[in-house]
Amino acid sequence: MSSASSTSPLADFIVVANRLPVDLEEAEDGTQRWRHSPGGLVSALEPFLRARRGAWVGWPGVADVDVEPFEAADKYLHPVSLSSAEFRDYYEGFSNATLWPLYHDVVAPPVFDRSWWESYVRVNHRFAESCAEVAAEGATVWIQDYQLQLVPAMLRDLRPDLRIGFFLHIPFPPVELFMQLPWRTEIVRGLLGADLVGFHRPGGAQNFLWLARRLAGFEPSRGSVGVRNRPGVVQVGDRPVRVGAFPISIDATGFDALARSRETQARAKEIRAELGNPRRIMLGVDRLDYTKGIDVRLHAFGELLKEGRLDAEDTVMIQLATPSRERVEHYKKMREEIEREVGRINGQFSRVGRPAVHYMHSSVERTELAAFYCAADVMVVTPVRDGMNLVCKEYAACRHDLGGALVLSEFAGAAAELTSAFLVNPHDLDGVKNSLVAALNVDPTEGRRRMRALRRQVLTHDVDRWARSFLEALGTQLTP
Ligand code: ADP
Ligand code: F6P
Repeated sequence: MSSASSTSPLADFIVVANRLPVDLEEAEDGTQRWRHSPGGLVSALEPFLRARRGAWVGWPGVADVDVEPFEAADKYLHPVSLSSAEFRDYYEGFSNATLWPLYHDVVAPPVFDRSWWESYVRVNHRFAESCAEVAAEGATVWIQDYQLQLVPAMLRDLRPDLRIGFFLHIPFPPVELFMQLPWRTEIVRGLLGADLVGFHRPGGAQNFLWLARRLAGFEPSRGSVGVRNRPGVVQVGDRPVRVGAFPISIDATGFDALARSRETQARAKEIRAELGNPRRIMLGVDRLDYTKGIDVRLHAFGELLKEGRLDAEDTVMIQLATPSRERVEHYKKMREEIEREVGRINGQFSRVGRPAVHYMHSSVERTELAAFYCAADVMVVTPVRDGMNLVCKEYAACRHDLGGALVLSEFAGAAAELTSAFLVNPHDLDGVKNSLVAALNVDPTEGRRRMRALRRQVLTHDVDRWARSFLEALGTQLTP
């Protein structure tokens, strides 16, 4: 077999994402170890790929290191290096201070910087070259997310023999917002290099079809795009580009089994005991990101305590927050604000050894996370904008006991599927407060009815179904 490197053969199926599924962590004493990468993209794709041999091209999570390709959990991992300047300009800059806020409905003002754009183009080209090197003749390459929107066209130029899919894990914005981007035409043309462009929701696909005509001059199909069916088509010369909606999901049976295990159930009891066995626990689990509405739920909880509608004697809130993009300005500011608010609530409502809000700025293992989900009476998911949100699906998958209630923002992609949640508008603080109280006091029969419906949806629409529906639309048959 021909070889891409001394360790890895050319691959027939390749995932390309900004990050590898594992991040290299360097301790102060210079020792290195690999850790699970943060975020929903890896949570979703990793279990799907676990059982299938394939290659993953991505950045190892640290700037200025060169790592040789290596094999882990039956996957060939192909690291793409970033210099510190590229980390600053391509990753922190263009990806996370331009595209991220722009695509999340400008909840923070996007910064438009020409040198960041140049870095984005350069790094996208490096990813395309790396894929071109590892792909076997006629291979399928599945490009992921907003950091790599130019890769489809760049890769097609290098390797016209490949079948190329692209999936966007975050919302695709309304056209009026997308039109603010100085490099809007380049991005649309970049994406049109794929054979299939996928979004979470039909609205995103529809917006992209409109932009393909407006900015690139290609005539799109007219019918409305369905969920997992009726993709739109843009004819690019003699090449049809399909544009569809494929709502992502989780390893639902994996979470279900984990939650049923004796160890998880015992740990959930232990968590409640460690908290002093409060009558009710509310839980938030997020990357520490300003789109997640962590401030919204804290304000709601603080006001409910102040008004006496909740009592910190018997109701506590836990917030698990994974550190994220810590040098980007909006993230620094938001972290300060959230930690100040946690301090304010605790200063006012805690007793010795009994904080009202338990805030942990860290990531926890999957087994521990499942125990937190099992321990929580109300899961609070209040993003102001979220492409999908996997946390709410993980919670439902863990509640085989049909206990617990989900408070979910209407502005998370998941709200279209999880209609039995207590749906809230995160901009309406009184509405959020009322829904928290309603979820905490839901009648047990009604609570079980809602949770049964949530679980039915999540267990029948798992990540495997998501990946299969995307790859089938791309015309790729995977084994097994
Ligand atoms: P995003 O991709 O924007 O981070 P998602 O909700 O789609 O948001 O996915 C987040 C993923 O990260 C989920 O799989 C969730 O379990 C995981 N996660 C978030 N916060 C933590 C945490 N503190 N510890 C462990 N896992 C976390
Ligand atoms: O889709 C959300 C996402 O941005 C992924 O692309 C990313 O891997 C994850 O969240 C975590 O973010 P980051 O890689 O910037 O830490």
